[in-house]
Amino acid sequence: MTKIAILGTGRVGTAIWKGIKKGSDQVKFGSRNPSQAKVEKGSEVIGLDEAAKWADVIVLAVPHKATEKVIKGAGEANFKNKVVIDVTNAINDRGELALGYSTSGAEEIQKLIPNARVVKAFNTVFAENMENGKINKNALTLFVASDDKKAKEMVMELGRTIGFRPVDAGPLKSARYLEPMGMLLINLGYGSSLGTKIGFLLVDEK
Ligand SMILES: NC(=O)c1ccc[n+]([C@@H]2O[C@H](COP(=O)([O-])OP(=O)(O)OC[C@H]3O[C@@H](n4cnc5c(N)ncnc54)[C@H](OP(=O)(O)O)[C@@H]3O)[C@@H](O)[C@H]2O)c1
Repeated sequence: MTKIAILGTGRVGTAIWKGIKKGSDQVKFGSRNPSQAKVEKGSEVIGLDEAAKWADVIVLAVPHKATEKVIKGAGEANFKNKVVIDVTNAINDRGELALGYSTSGAEEIQKLIPNARVVKAFNTVFAENMENGKINKNALTLFVASDDKKAKEMVMELGRTIGFRPVDAGPLKSARYLEPMGMLLINLGYGSSLGTKIGFLLVDEK
């Protein structure tokens, strides 16, 4: 069974852990401070490097500004050939989009770990809706972007298992569009006071 390490024990890490946990016990948290991390009962928390070494798939559920430090803490070599799911939204300290047009947070992560198979996903979903991938009975659209076809299919399948409706959003470069979508979601949820029980649905003929 695929071993999944979630780096970051915050809201997103916890929600994705709950989603994965429904179908697999091969999931662990990687934390900067495993002994102090506040995590769900029954979860296993180990150090960043141990988690990255153990896993086949690594979820980066940390703040954008911390990604480089966390990757270095986990050891760049431990990411080699691994599927790395980037859920981050590239937001600066002013709460604005930190990157755009000619690059994205996901592409910058791929540059840091060129041998990893980076996939952008989950960033357009509020943490609250990540455990089931649904709001009421509506399966939320999970936009998944990567240059690695097999890695993308694997993450789409993971999303389907959680309860999302995955959509192939193209190459990793599409993160340039998905990250502003994440920002739009935040603005709708908080700026426009719609709350976090909202999400994106792509409608087609199927
Ligand atoms: N919240 C949402 O609804 C949502 C939705 C989509 C995407 N995102 C994105 O997902 C990522 C995680 O968001 P979150 O809401 O889970 O954040 P969070 O609750 O603040 O948790 C972030 C986790 O990252 C780890 N971390 C590592 N280095 C850190 C540092 N320098 N400062 C703070 N935390 C650090 C911490 O875990 P340890 O202490 O155990 O290492 C922390 O618990 C962000 O990039 C965010 O933009 C969030």
